Amino acid sequence: MPNENKNIIAIDGPAGAGKGTLTKKLCEHYKFAGLDTGSLYRAITLCLIKMGTDMDKLDEQFATDVAERLSDTHEILTYAKNPEIRSQLTNKYVASVAKIPELRKIMRKYQTKFAINPPSLEDGTPAKGAIIEGRDIGTVICPDAPVKFFMTANAETRASRRLKQYLDQGETANYQEVLESIIARDEADRTRETSPMKQADDAIVIDTSINDKEQTFEMAKKIIKEKLNLE
Ligand code: DC
Repeated sequence: MPNENKNIIAIDGPAGAGKGTLTKKLCEHYKFAGLDTGSLYRAITLCLIKMGTDMDKLDEQFATDVAERLSDTHEILTYAKNPEIRSQLTNKYVASVAKIPELRKIMRKYQTKFAINPPSLEDGTPAKGAIIEGRDIGTVICPDAPVKFFMTANAETRASRRLKQYLDQGETANYQEVLESIIARDEADRTRETSPMKQADDAIVIDTSINDKEQTFEMAKKIIKEKLNLE
């Protein structure tokens, strides 16, 4: 059996805090494989919507069976690449999918596998480590990760970023509605019973309302040098 990967970086935090941007920069810099776990829950949600499921009366067992099939067949990755996973419709329902305990167990298996045995990079070279980003990575999925970040920013900053993303995608959106939806989703993620969004006790907090992309990247690299001895 190949050696288990020990270079694991867990990044948690609410929507729009900049987790994706930091993950991408760190993956490029260290030649790590990155997993956006939010995109997995979004992929399952999108698949359910496309199947014509009544999302307002979601059957948890049905959603769990769909998640299991998607992860077993790796079809989940095809859905995760569909830009529709970021539409307002998917946003509306993703928290109700992500709160299903049995479905999260299936996703946990998938994420743990990625962390200890990350896939090769796009150019075919083996990954030198894994970065997993989400809500419960430092607390539930990879509690022993040697590096943990918890990224945050005030709701207004995060809403402005999301609004820009919608407009760039060609969707119509208004700031007030985006802000309200961010606040509602934060609340749903923070208060759900199974694996709520939570800062691990040993996570380093980075506030991206006060640190820009470069400052955030530099702070993260300094910690990674200390904990993993990587340049
Ligand atoms: O990070 P995001 O906005 O793409 O996440 C989409 C949804 O999935 C959001 O409601 C939180 C949820 N999620 C989760 O419950 N656990 C994770 N590890 C990642 C995301």
